[in-house]
Amino acid sequence: MIELAGISKSFVTKGKNVEAVKDVTLHIKEHEIYGIIGFSGAGKSTLVRCINLLERPDSGKVILGERELTNLSDKELREARKDIGMIFQHFNLFPSRTVFQNVAYPLKGRGLSKEEIKEKVLELLKLVELEDKENAYPSQLSGGQKQRVAIARALATDPKVLLCDEATSALDPQTTHSILKLLKQLNQNLGITIVIITHEMAVIKEICDRVAVMEHGKVVEEGEVFEVFANPRQEITKAFINTTSALRKIYDLLEENSPVVALKPGEKILKLQYLEKSVSEALISTISRKFNIDCNIIFASIEIIGDAPLGGTIIIAQGKAEDIQEAIRYLKERNILVEVLKDGGNH
Ligand SMILES: Nc1ncnc2c1ncn2[C@@H]1O[C@H](COP(=O)(O)OP(=O)(O)OP(=O)(O)O)[C@@H](O)[C@H]1O
Ligand SMILES: [Mg+2]
Repeated sequence: MIELAGISKSFVTKGKNVEAVKDVTLHIKEHEIYGIIGFSGAGKSTLVRCINLLERPDSGKVILGERELTNLSDKELREARKDIGMIFQHFNLFPSRTVFQNVAYPLKGRGLSKEEIKEKVLELLKLVELEDKENAYPSQLSGGQKQRVAIARALATDPKVLLCDEATSALDPQTTHSILKLLKQLNQNLGITIVIITHEMAVIKEICDRVAVMEHGKVVEEGEVFEVFANPRQEITKAFINTTSALRKIYDLLEENSPVVALKPGEKILKLQYLEKSVSEALISTISRKFNIDCNIIFASIEIIGDAPLGGTIIIAQGKAEDIQEAIRYLKERNILVEVLKDGGNH
C-alpha cells in the first residue's frame, strides 16, 4: 500500500547539516494500523511528512498503491494527496471558522453543490459524534472534540490513508483512549490505512498491528507489535516497553530489599515471561504438581495484545534446588523466558 524505499532527508540549519531520516525502507500494508515510535528528534515527523511529500526526500521513492508519488508533477501530486489525510498534535483547525466550515474546507473547489457539501459535512460530523457542534468555533471545544473535528476534516476527501502525527499527545489518557477507539473504528469500518506516530508505547499497544522503532533517523526495529513486545532486540525498544510494563516494579522491590522479596532458604524468585502467542497451559499449577514445588505469585502483569496474552509473572518458588532446576528446564522448553532474580540459598 505505502512503500518507502531508501528514504533520506537532511536539513541545513545555521550551516549545520542534520540528517533527519537516513535510508529508511518500510512497507505499510493496506488496511493496517502502523505505528512509528521514537524519542524526540528521531525523525518520525520528517519520515511521515515524506509520505505525502510535505517534505521532499533527498533520495528514495515513495509509492502509494500503484503510483510513485516522487515522480508526479505538482498537479498530479495535488490530486494524489486527496488519498492521504493527516492530523496533528495541535489539531491545526482554522480558529475563525466554525466546525462546519473547517470540515467543509477540503471540499471546496471540487464542483460540489452547497447541498452536497452540507450532506457530506453532516455525515462526517456524525461519524465523529459531533453532530451538535456544527456551529461551534474551535475555541469552544475540548481537546478531544477538536481532534474529532480534525479527523472529520481529514476524511472529507475520502482518503485511503490517514497519517497521525502525535494526534493524542496533547490529550489526557481517557480522551486519548476515545480518539484511538475512533481511529480503530475508521480502520475497521472504512478500511482506511492508518499510520500513527507516537512516543508512547501505550498507544502502539492499544491499536497498532505493526510497529517501527526509530532512532537517530533510522528504523532500528520493526515487526508485528506482539513479536516486538515479546522479543525486543534493541535497547531502545526495551526502554519503551519498560515504560508500559508493571513487571519492572520487581527491580525496585529487590533494590529496596522490600519484605515482599525476603526469602527463606529453599526459595527462589523467578520471573516468567511469555514469548509466544500459544501460552494456554496452566503452567504454574503444572510445575507445582510435576516438580513438587510451591509457587507463590508475588505479582503478574499479563495483557492482551493482538488477541494473545503477553506479559509475565513473578513467583517465589519453594522446593529442592534440583526440582526447581527441573521446573525451569520444563518452562524453557515451552518457550517461557525464565530468570532467577533472587536465590534464598539451600536448606
Ligand atoms: N524543517 C526543518 N529544518 C531543520 N531541521 C529540521 C526540520 N525538521 C526537522 N528537523 C530536524 O530533524 C531531526 C528530526 O526531526 P523530527 O521532527 O522528524 O523528529 P521527531 O521524531 O518527529 O521528533 P518529535 O518527537 O520531537 O516530534 C531533528 O534534529 C530536527 O531538529
Ligand atoms: Mg515529530
